[in-house]
Amino acid sequence: MDRHHPPRRFSLYTPPSPLALSLLSIAVFFLFFCFAATSDAAFDVSPISFDEGCRHLFGDGNLVRSPAGDGVRILLDRFTGAGFISSDMYQHGFFSAMIKLPSDYTAGVVVAFYTSNGDVFEKTHDELDIEFLGNIRGKPWRFQTNVYGNGSTSRGREERYTLWFDPTEEHHRYSILWTSNKIIFYVDEVPIREIVRSEAMGGDFPSKPMSLYATIWDASDWATSGGRYKVNYKYAPFVSEFKDLVLEGCSADPIRESPAEGCREKDTQLEARGFATVTPAQRRTMRWFRERYMYYSYCYDTLRYPVPPPECVIIPSEKARFKDTGRLKFGGSHKRRSRRRERIPVKSASDNQASM
Ligand SMILES: *[C@@H]1O[C@H](CO)[C@@H](O)[C@H](O)[C@H]1NC(C)=O
Repeated sequence: MDRHHPPRRFSLYTPPSPLALSLLSIAVFFLFFCFAATSDAAFDVSPISFDEGCRHLFGDGNLVRSPAGDGVRILLDRFTGAGFISSDMYQHGFFSAMIKLPSDYTAGVVVAFYTSNGDVFEKTHDELDIEFLGNIRGKPWRFQTNVYGNGSTSRGREERYTLWFDPTEEHHRYSILWTSNKIIFYVDEVPIREIVRSEAMGGDFPSKPMSLYATIWDASDWATSGGRYKVNYKYAPFVSEFKDLVLEGCSADPIRESPAEGCREKDTQLEARGFATVTPAQRRTMRWFRERYMYYSYCYDTLRYPVPPPECVIIPSEKARFKDTGRLKFGGSHKRRSRRRERIPVKSASDNQASM
């Protein structure tokens, strides 16, 4: 169990707390990681082989299948990154993989695990992101989640976090659930973010079939401290491993079919799965995570959104950590920077208001 504990350097925020509180959090921690040990069982999912669900997308030679066929490594070297895509598009689904990130010096490197339909709907695309942002040696990987619907690229919905473990040491399961009325991001079996659809979101809630993508690419101009640290190819190749992929959802062709009709039954099945409901115990763990490891949320950035977007649920204990600028009150020297970027190979022009 020890290896799961966050090393000192990983904790951004350590409030002074009385002994009782410390003991309580140790207890929560312990319970929580007993859960964590059984992640696949908890989700009751059936991983598929790489070739069953996915195909190579770009980066000749930099996608290497595992001998057992259960996964791939994708590499970034000085010539190219690499990526894969699901063979089908899905109208709602549970998208998940065991991922191990490149270790050592990874500034400027981005590993993305996301769903999108940007190559089908250029102007009105939908997207759900988990993006891992590399860092200089000794600093932890950070990651962000984001949501776009119907081309809402001018309304970023970023949240950023650190992790309670070192994601370069072993594989952890990262998952995106998307149903017709909610989105949940998971790290192992911990829900870290839930978005419940509100009418007021309108088209900003993803509505059209998406593919799953995984990519590794050079984001030197953006990923680490707003571009201050570039990819250093002395440390190449940067290798990210993906295995035990889960693709459960309704396969749908966005051009030929009307997915809303054909997917109704599958939608009902998806909604009934364990991973589609955050239990009260899971919600406590989600709070636990968000109060300690989330260092940016658009919901608390009142400079950017004087009125929080409609899906935001303001949690006082979360909000108390942030200034009106959306920056953490304690610690962290977060550079604010806005720039558009292109993600290889899908044209996904996303504003990154909170790049660091
Ligand atoms: C998406 O955007 C297009 C073009 O702006 C618009 O015609 C359509 O009604 C929108 N769809 C939704 C679900 O809001």
